[in-house]
Amino acid sequence: MRKIILETEMRVYDSREELPEDLKDLLRQAEDAATRSYAKYSHFQVGAAILMNNGKVVTGANQENAVYPCGLCAERTAAFAASAMYPEVPFNKIVITAINPSEPLKEPVSPCGSCRQVLFEYEQKFGHPIEVILAGQEGPIYHFQNVATLLPYTFHAGFLPK
Ligand code: THU
Repeated sequence: MRKIILETEMRVYDSREELPEDLKDLLRQAEDAATRSYAKYSHFQVGAAILMNNGKVVTGANQENAVYPCGLCAERTAAFAASAMYPEVPFNKIVITAINPSEPLKEPVSPCGSCRQVLFEYEQKFGHPIEVILAGQEGPIYHFQNVATLLPYTFHAGFLPK
């Protein structure tokens, strides 16, 4: 038996002021997107902003539905829109944030497993790392260098029959 311990590199900015200008701008766009969420049931408004390699920014916000499972997270609305608009352009980075109307979020919002899986697919498709930046409404901001570090032992296309 062998024991394997994984290490995850994460950069932490203690506040928004510490962020480089390009990330500040992308975070503002994610915050703006969060205000356009349709979160009638959870009231949790999530926004995502993807910077594409062609310099375009595509945003998304969670979209809910009376049939709860029909809804979709902000990250996937953004990722699917980005891929539909620019199918040949790699994703460069994604900023994710949220608004909790009952109490400001003091820790960075974390993408769910399905969103990690979807982002991983695009990272693999282009062989290009997608930086992931997570923010709350206040407090620290986390910065990961790629999606793979957020989803170790991922299911990928290589498992499927040839
Ligand atoms: N949600 C997102 O959009 N992204 C996340 O990273 C976590 C959760 C949405 C889904 C649902 O509309 C609401 O937040 C509550 O789960």
